[in-house]
Amino acid sequence: MAISQIVKNSMVIGSYIRRMFEEGIVLKKVHGEENVFDLSLGNPILEPPKVFTDELHQLVNHPWPGMHLQMEDPGYAATRTAVAAQITRDTGVQFKAQDIVMAYGAAGAVNAAFKTLLNPGEEVISFTPNYFEYVNYSANHGGGIKYIPADKNLNPDLEALAAGMTTNTRAIIINSPNNPTGHVYTAQTLKNIAEVVTRRSAELKHRVYIVSDDVYTGLYYGQGKCPRMAQYYPHTIVGTSYSKDLSLPGERIGYLAVHPECEDREDILKGLVYANQVLGFINPPATMQNIVRKLQDASVDINIYRRKRDLFYDNLTEMGYSIVKPQGAFYIFPTSPNPDDEAFVQELKKLLVLTVPGHVFRAPGYFRLCYCVDDRVIMGSLKGFKEAIAKYKK
Ligand SMILES: Cc1ncc(COP(=O)(O)O)c(C=O)c1O
Repeated sequence: MAISQIVKNSMVIGSYIRRMFEEGIVLKKVHGEENVFDLSLGNPILEPPKVFTDELHQLVNHPWPGMHLQMEDPGYAATRTAVAAQITRDTGVQFKAQDIVMAYGAAGAVNAAFKTLLNPGEEVISFTPNYFEYVNYSANHGGGIKYIPADKNLNPDLEALAAGMTTNTRAIIINSPNNPTGHVYTAQTLKNIAEVVTRRSAELKHRVYIVSDDVYTGLYYGQGKCPRMAQYYPHTIVGTSYSKDLSLPGERIGYLAVHPECEDREDILKGLVYANQVLGFINPPATMQNIVRKLQDASVDINIYRRKRDLFYDNLTEMGYSIVKPQGAFYIFPTSPNPDDEAFVQELKKLLVLTVPGHVFRAPGYFRLCYCVDDRVIMGSLKGFKEAIAKYKK
């Protein structure tokens, strides 16, 4: 066999969503584009804000010598200064340019963090439902993963977290707002997590870091700013990108921010730069670093996503679906009326509505839908959702 067994096994889960997408293309050919409602892929539909295009034009029309050459290892100093100022405004934590390493999207950021932290065989704790790639990101760097399930309100089970932490735990990955649930941890939940991790690190005499995947913090529908882990735990490494709030997932631009009070901060920063190099990212694209420097306050219009969330949530709950109302990102994660989530997703598929079963996110008994689609797709899917739940109603 040409490809390794590890790659072969990992591809099975990773390809589930893509397979659903491809089945959708076939269904569209048979039933007509307008009759198939694909809610399986989390690809933002909004175009980047106009200021992004303006800055891109500005750069193209006023090039300077060397703008496409190598740069200092952690990324352009001016960009890191702007990023540090923005994350300081957002969190109240005093980040400086030297705490920032530019990264190849949030995926590149989390990989660089895991590569930097993990010794072979050490593990990362991840709360489920979770982003299905974390297990692969940890395995990329010789690490394992331990899953800690959420409670019925989608908050982490803190007793299980305390019990699950051992001297073999190197890091905990947090993702709020969350993929696949859209759930946001409150400031109190983040404080509780920090309290458990601090206490257990002291008992174990072993520092456990938190890697905070903040990729959706720009898509937050609650009051004020989205609560962030770095506000409550100093040994936090933030990994994030502009993929969601500026709608730039194809441009691979993000950053890592190491909390200024993080233990062994300098070593970690050096490790992150090294990781970026040997993973082959080197730095994210120079052009994008030059543009996002100017766009620290810019965002897509998140009211559009908020309205789609309300439209979907209100209609589905009215039909009888049970859902923890998502406060961020662009996902809804209802309980599957059929406890067999795979079977329910297949039932929906027969009604030409494409979703992803919870087991893909280590949370059987649920299913995920992405509402970053046209209203036409949301409205069109409702008939199928209504029909699918009817037979489970008492
Ligand atoms: C939770 C989570 N983390 C990371 C990523 C990867 O983001 P990026 O495209 O910035 O690498 C995604 C993408 O959907 C995601 O949902």
